[in-house]
Amino acid sequence: MIVLGIESTAHTFGIGIYDSKKNKILSNAKHMFKPPLGIGMLPREASEHHYKECDKILKQALETAKIKKEEIDLIAFSQGPGLGACLRVGASIARFLSLELKKPLIGVNHCIAHLEVAKVTTPAKDPIMLYVSGGNTQIIAFDEGKYRVFGETQDIPVGNLFDVFARNAGLPMPGGPVIEKLALKGREYIPLPYAVKGMDVSFSGILTTASKMIGKKKIEDISYSLQETAYSMLVEVTERAMAHCNKKELVLAGGVAANKRLRQMCDTMCKEREARFFVPEFQYCCDNGAMIAVLGAIEHEAGVETKLKDSRIKTKWRTDEVKVSWI
Ligand code: ATP
Ligand code: FE2
Repeated sequence: MIVLGIESTAHTFGIGIYDSKKNKILSNAKHMFKPPLGIGMLPREASEHHYKECDKILKQALETAKIKKEEIDLIAFSQGPGLGACLRVGASIARFLSLELKKPLIGVNHCIAHLEVAKVTTPAKDPIMLYVSGGNTQIIAFDEGKYRVFGETQDIPVGNLFDVFARNAGLPMPGGPVIEKLALKGREYIPLPYAVKGMDVSFSGILTTASKMIGKKKIEDISYSLQETAYSMLVEVTERAMAHCNKKELVLAGGVAANKRLRQMCDTMCKEREARFFVPEFQYCCDNGAMIAVLGAIEHEAGVETKLKDSRIKTKWRTDEVKVSWI
């Protein structure tokens, strides 16, 4: 079965094509909206970007996959969670293609797609996933019939911590990679609020404290301290979730998975508890259409279909609300 997957939850508009019979991702085209320097992303502007790019991305996805539109068997799209204006673009295109090609439609959960694509592109079979991006920070695993969130941020996502700090400090966006580079030259650890609350984390106190230090402490030292504090918190909670569920695999996903220091800390933790650690190829770590196609295929095989009347977007769709019929 040839599945086309559409991703449009936030910055990225992506279309991927997956051949489920061969278990092969045939293409993964995408384009990211970049807001002007110093300004956060306005959902309306991102959605306009998605409308502008969609024809080009669809063409690119089909050409790379060497597939004609008519050969597609199923249309999958990110139904949530995400920004309403952005999600609506993907959902509209999916409905249109489904009607035009007379093929079934399936709306999938974005967060679970991150995990399922990791199971297709790495040897992981039943992992815990640390999903860290600009819009999400969650620790997810399948346990007793559904995907459960074992820990999450109580306020801002970790990628957002880096992005907003960078903006406050007048650094270029996105902040994560810039802070990673600066942190390499950091020498002094400046204590920041280490906020692990049960299995959850909180980053807003770190953001306030670190922002107050701008101009008073070396930016390299603040960056180093930001990374050490935020990543230690995440790895602590992830390790506890692994112990609780008795999982022996960890997958890192989301844009922040690019970070070498976070990878190193996850790797050390996994080695110490004799677990295996996987990071999917980066194009499948950040937001992409291929992961939506993969989850669409898996759910379709289990008999799931989204009727047109049920295809409304779900901006706040939680991971643990998804009915998992495919495992
Ligand atoms: P989602 O919709 O899943 O929340 P997103 O829109 O935030 O995703 P991603 O590409 O998954 O998009 O993630 C972008 C985030 O990743 C930004 O916050 C960025 O600062 C962060 N990031 C990118 N590279 C690095 C890095 N090397 N170190 C730390 N953070 C990084
Ligand atoms: Fe994502």
